[in-house]
Amino acid sequence: MVISKHFLVSILQVTLVVLPFLIQAQDSSGFISIDCGISDVSSYTDETTGITYFSDANFTETGENRGISPAYKEQNNQQQLWNLRSFPEGSRNCYTLKPLAEENGTRYLVRAGFLYGNYDNKGRLVLEFDLYIGVELWATVVIEDSETPINKEITYVPSSDRIHICLVNTGNGIPFISLLELRPLQDDIYASESGTSLELSGRYDVSSETDETMRYKDDMYSRVWSPLVWKPVITTSSSNENSISNNSYQIPFTVMNTAYTGNKTTRYLYINWKKLNSSATYFFYMHFAELEKLQANQSREFNIYINGAVWYGPFVPRYLSAFTIYSDPGSKTDSEGTFNIWLNSTDDSTLPPLINALEMYVLREFSQQTTSQADAEAISDVKLVYGLKRNWQGDPCAPETYLWDGLNCSYNANSPHRIVSLNLSSSGLKGEVAPSIASLKMLKILNLKGNNFTGPVPDALTKRAENGLLLSIDTSPSSTPCTSGSCGKKKTNFVVPLVASLGGVLFLILTLLAVLWALNRKKQQKTKDSRVDTVNVESNEEYFPSFVSKKQELTYPEIQRITNNFERVLGEGGFGKLKLLLRVHHKNLTTLIGYCNEASNIALVYEYMAMGNLRSHLSGSSKNILSWEDRLRIAIDTAQGLEYLHNGCKPQIVHRDVKSTNILLNERMQAKLGDFGLAKFFPTEGGNYIASGATSTPVGITASIAGTPGYIDPEYYISNSLNEKSDVYSFGVMLLEIITARPVLAKTQQNNHVIEWVSSMLGKGDIKNILDPRLEGDFSINSAWKLIEISMACVSRTSTSRPTMSRVTIELKECLATELSGKDGHSVAEYSKDSVEMVANNFLSLSPRAR
Ligand SMILES: *[C@@H]1O[C@H](CO)[C@@H](O)[C@H](O)[C@H]1NC(C)=O
Ligand SMILES: *[C@@H]1O[C@H](CO)[C@@H](O)[C@H](O)[C@H]1NC(C)=O
Ligand SMILES: *[C@@H]1O[C@H](CO)[C@@H](O)[C@H](O)[C@H]1NC(C)=O
Ligand SMILES: *[C@@H]1O[C@H](CO)[C@@H](O)[C@H](O)[C@H]1NC(C)=O
Ligand SMILES: *[C@@H]1O[C@H](CO)[C@@H](O)[C@H](O)[C@H]1NC(C)=O
Ligand SMILES: *[C@@H]1O[C@H](CO)[C@@H](O)[C@H](O)[C@H]1NC(C)=O
Ligand SMILES: *[C@@H]1O[C@H](CO)[C@@H](O)[C@H](O)[C@H]1NC(C)=O
Ligand SMILES: *[C@@H]1O[C@H](CO)[C@@H](O)[C@H](O)[C@H]1NC(C)=O
Ligand SMILES: *[C@@H]1O[C@H](CO)[C@@H](O)[C@H](O)[C@H]1NC(C)=O
Ligand SMILES: *[C@@H]1O[C@H](CO)[C@@H](O)[C@H](O)[C@H]1NC(C)=O
Repeated sequence: MVISKHFLVSILQVTLVVLPFLIQAQDSSGFISIDCGISDVSSYTDETTGITYFSDANFTETGENRGISPAYKEQNNQQQLWNLRSFPEGSRNCYTLKPLAEENGTRYLVRAGFLYGNYDNKGRLVLEFDLYIGVELWATVVIEDSETPINKEITYVPSSDRIHICLVNTGNGIPFISLLELRPLQDDIYASESGTSLELSGRYDVSSETDETMRYKDDMYSRVWSPLVWKPVITTSSSNENSISNNSYQIPFTVMNTAYTGNKTTRYLYINWKKLNSSATYFFYMHFAELEKLQANQSREFNIYINGAVWYGPFVPRYLSAFTIYSDPGSKTDSEGTFNIWLNSTDDSTLPPLINALEMYVLREFSQQTTSQADAEAISDVKLVYGLKRNWQGDPCAPETYLWDGLNCSYNANSPHRIVSLNLSSSGLKGEVAPSIASLKMLKILNLKGNNFTGPVPDALTKRAENGLLLSIDTSPSSTPCTSGSCGKKKTNFVVPLVASLGGVLFLILTLLAVLWALNRKKQQKTKDSRVDTVNVESNEEYFPSFVSKKQELTYPEIQRITNNFERVLGEGGFGKLKLLLRVHHKNLTTLIGYCNEASNIALVYEYMAMGNLRSHLSGSSKNILSWEDRLRIAIDTAQGLEYLHNGCKPQIVHRDVKSTNILLNERMQAKLGDFGLAKFFPTEGGNYIASGATSTPVGITASIAGTPGYIDPEYYISNSLNEKSDVYSFGVMLLEIITARPVLAKTQQNNHVIEWVSSMLGKGDIKNILDPRLEGDFSINSAWKLIEISMACVSRTSTSRPTMSRVTIELKECLATELSGKDGHSVAEYSKDSVEMVANNFLSLSPRAR
């Protein structure tokens, strides 16, 4: 039979006519079923479907509960559509769903239902508003009459743990919503590429036996199947629900047990869509099952064509077994927006084609960035803590038009949006300053003025304020939150530490704070020639939280208590001038967070470096072997710290004591250079590095040569002329330690300095034995060679032959890149001696042997 035009028309009508809602019983966990606008009950179980529906009170903060007029209630027996929530206020109102996903990347089927039902007695017949999922426009909801329910369905993979469904007033009437459902999809059905969704265009129970839309109890995803009353129809003889075997699409038995087919002489079925979006991509899901028991001389075999091209075939439906054919990557209409689908019998086939069910989806590409999950969580917490209302719904930053009031964000097409400013001034905030504010890591401006805060400003925030966050908060005595360390005690915030250095008389005044300093001067005694301990403090100690944020003065007993009687004293040494220490700030330099200065007890308190010093990791006693990559990163970190001292500080600073025990590692194995005890700085720029002026002790005299044996630049030793290349030398020695894990000065061996030892190994062409044997060859040979090359250049005898720290940093980064790209499993041992020698010679010509 030829499907005549009225069939085509009826298909088109079906796509336009909106179907009544069909809800399905299912107790599977992960379902969210919300009956919007009911107020009197928090939940109920639908008698027909067995689904438990919840009121929307816990999912949205705005809007009004309304009920449809009784006349339309009678027309529609679906209870979920009898109430709705309307949103007369605000341009964007949102629901926030937090599905309990077992794993990341779960795909959901999200459904929103709308039935106007003349709830406002305005008989408004044209009503239009936008529906958003996440930050993406999902659909424009067009209400054209009072009685026809609108159903919007889409697959969605949320990028964070919450899904926002928003209704946006576009000026064409007050938005409302009746029903919201969310179903996790299993087995990766209705899959589409990441960043895309499938929006339902039509879902048909082909050749339904009745003309009625039924509420199927047995669709586990509560899919709504629209009946197409196409004839002739074939059905199974069995009414047993298990008689058709299932596939992962779990099509209900009531949908699969009828199929459309032609009469015996028909050779094809033809289905046609017109006036579709010719730019869009469509996904078809066709579901088949043979319902007739075929005789030996019978066969049903056909090809499926879409717009003339074979889409699938030849295909033989299996007896009482569901089989789904779908298009991936999807199909395009012709230029007119038409789909012609032919199911044509093959020549061998004795029976006409059949089809049981058909679904059609439109591919949606969702490329909008959302707010970073961390920022979204932090700001949501702030909202919760203070019970803020404003327009704070949906995604904080996106779409930009609906940006939350008081926020500004940075927008980048390729990465999540970040919150960069937050204005909570005069917002009637009370209680503590929410610690979650400090979790807004990209925040640059924070205005908290005009509120009634009590308690301390969180340390994390104070620390951020020290690192560039522009924090505005009231400073009048009544409302100034105290820093936690000084609450109820003397004001310690502005104590300017004053400490002694080697032989130096010293004082330090930050001019701005001079007055406060004067008040505290009794505490600030000049101490001569004191030795000081560098104490490593865990900053999360309960009674010691403030030191992460303020340079603080501590009592000696306090430090004893905090450090468990100096259990973790990292090192002791000469003392850098505090002026120097306060000024210097870099991520690869340890941060001074407090000090003690009591008579003979002088201590500097640095941030906690969980993993101790580098030397302890290189020494044979360490159980954890530093990987080659870790070693390269440590080298880069240290180089960056030094580069900052040399080039980022004015006047320039020479550390003078670069060595492996001064490289401290935090829990992420990030390296920081510590102990500025010997550091000198130079007021002049350019080539004149003669130490002068800035310290009370001139450097250029023999007696003042300082440093650690093995690391001291021989040129400096001989000439007493100090410059930043001396640090480069020491750094080179430290690199050799990293490479070899040998002590710098091995007393027992002939080539007792690590430089001599490495040089002699290179001379012998024995490169493979240079590297720390505990690495067991787990590094790329190219990066190993490069690191040796860099080290040897750094330890050149003459300072002019040594590279600058900037150069070294660049080379080290290249070296790491080589390592990361060259993890090809080649170990030194696999290389022939020839190539080793070649490279070794190369070295020797590059950098003359030291000493
Ligand atoms: C079945 O096919 C015959 C031609 O072979 C046609 O005359 C008849 O109308 C068809 N029956 C139906 C129900 O379409
Ligand atoms: C809202 O959530 C609370 C706590 O989770 C729950 O006790 C209450 O029943 C919920 N209300 C509704 C209407 O679902
Ligand atoms: C989910 O993804 C996030 C970020 O991609 C990740 O931090 C988290 O560990 C993942 N959770 C699971 C259960 O895989
Ligand atoms: C497939 O399984 C689901 C749930 O297990 C059931 O509701 C449905 O009727 C089954 N479909 C068929 C075609 O048997
Ligand atoms: C047609 O599809 C394209 C591509 O998906 C989309 O950008 C466009 O908005 C659609 N047009 C209409 C009218 O839906
Ligand atoms: C198929 O075989 C049956 C008997 O089993 C017979 O009645 C029928 O005519 C045959 N049909 C064809 C097309 O050969
Ligand atoms: C399917 O068969 C019909 C009728 O014979 C024919 O008009 C049509 O071109 C065929 N379709 C394809 C794609 O071959
Ligand atoms: C956000 O940026 C706009 C324009 O640059 C500015 O007027 C506004 O004050 C900023 N808001 C906040 C909270 O910083
Ligand atoms: C910050 O918010 C307050 C109160 O909402 C407002 O008066 C002020 O103009 C805002 N400041 C900026 C810079 O946006
Ligand atoms: C802060 O609290 C004081 C007294 O507790 C009250 O007089 C004042 O109005 C409050 N200020 C704000 C901005 O809420």
